[in-house]
Amino acid sequence: MQTRAIILAAGKGTRMKSEKYKVLHEVCGTPMIQHVINNLGQAGITDVYAVLGHGSETVGTYLGDGIKQTIQEEQLGTAHAVMEWREALSDAEGHTMVVCGDTPLITDTTMQAFMNYHLDTGSKATILSSRTGEPSGYGRIVRKENGSVKRIVEDKDATDLEREIKEVSSGTFIFDNKALFEALGQVGNDNAQNEYYLPDVVSILRDKGARVEAYISPDFEETLGINDRVALANAEEILRKRINTRHMENGVTLVHPVATYIDAQVEIGSDSIIYPGAIIRGNTKIGKNVIISSGTEINGSTIDDDAEIKHSVVTGAGVGKGTTVGPFAQLRPQAELGRDVKIGNFVEVKKSRLEDESKVSHLSYIGDAAIGERSNIGCGTITVNYDGKNKFLTEIGADAFIGCNSNLVAPVSIGDRSFIAAGSTITDEVPEDSLAIARNRQTTKKDYYKKDN
Ligand code: UD1
Ligand code: CA
Repeated sequence: MQTRAIILAAGKGTRMKSEKYKVLHEVCGTPMIQHVINNLGQAGITDVYAVLGHGSETVGTYLGDGIKQTIQEEQLGTAHAVMEWREALSDAEGHTMVVCGDTPLITDTTMQAFMNYHLDTGSKATILSSRTGEPSGYGRIVRKENGSVKRIVEDKDATDLEREIKEVSSGTFIFDNKALFEALGQVGNDNAQNEYYLPDVVSILRDKGARVEAYISPDFEETLGINDRVALANAEEILRKRINTRHMENGVTLVHPVATYIDAQVEIGSDSIIYPGAIIRGNTKIGKNVIISSGTEINGSTIDDDAEIKHSVVTGAGVGKGTTVGPFAQLRPQAELGRDVKIGNFVEVKKSRLEDESKVSHLSYIGDAAIGERSNIGCGTITVNYDGKNKFLTEIGADAFIGCNSNLVAPVSIGDRSFIAAGSTITDEVPEDSLAIARNRQTTKKDYYKKDN
């Protein structure tokens, strides 16, 4: 039978003290609401309805057309939020999962087990709960003496005795859809926060004699709700540990995993070694047997097998097999390095293609350039790519040798096997197999010292 999901994400997230909507805050590089959507997808739920807050255009834009959206003008509580979808959904058959946009850590295994439990028990409402030694802030699951679920009491409404309860609600539920919308009409707001609480649906259904259940998640960590920056950091730590464990299980060496920061969607091949303090972000793919040293920051890049990146910043770039980068280099967007290229210290490469076995070993700026195979770019070489208005190309053929401290004033091309004398400022085309010298000849004045004194 069809299962759909409603994501509640209208709350501003006041406790985050942020200009940014809460659900757009990132956990290991992915906005928390995206984690929630991914988790639902893993559990086979793709028919997703979001409830967003007034002024949350940024969230709406982020979600795009794949997720149906509605606006809850006033945040009158979680039950009120679900009611925003009443017109569209109240007559629908099947089951509806309601999940908070601020619980990004629920795993697909738990989602699946939770759904199966709901279907197997045939209950009208199933709560995803968990046990914790620190239940403060969460709704508590109140059970009857025979163990069956009676109701959920919110932290702010709980008696001292109820506050002692260690079983808490994750805020995630599965309902029989029609039963949900019928019960929602009866939820009141006579409570400590004057809000319409979704958890009240549980006792309403129960009082009607319907079966309600709680599936206890084996792991409280999964159900962590992120209300403030402290919880955000906790969530990041939990997810980081999961990500890092997965990489280690796949054969990647993380020398000090606690201090290694890898975003959720990064891929790394086996026998690669990642040193502490490395930050690997975005849609990055790292091959096998790669070494990433400490302090390296890689964002949205591809690093092929056997490459080594030392203490460098790599953004939107491609690094070929066996290529070495750094120490202290910067590869900027569209830097594309072939196989066995060498980029040495204090070299910046932007929007340039460097063919196999080419070398830029020290202190250079290479921007808007194409460099052929095996060419050697001497220390201090600069591609002069910008005239203050426009950017121009520098083309260097294969097996060229650019002497130290050359300025290559673009647009300019240097042919295969040509030499540029050290210290040259090249402004004109250099054909293949040539030597270009573009500097003043040396004048030496003998006995200059004596004459002056
Ligand atoms: C909620 C639950 C609590 C549960 C906890 C788990 C209620 C009343 N309380 O408490 O039982 O233990 O989550 O993390 O449901 N939202 C709206 N519209 C509103 C109010 C909230 O869309 O009018 C959204 C928020 O954006 C958020 C979610 O609902 O994503 C939960 O709201 P929040 O204020 O974080 O509730 P908690 O106090 O954490
Ligand atoms: Ca919350």
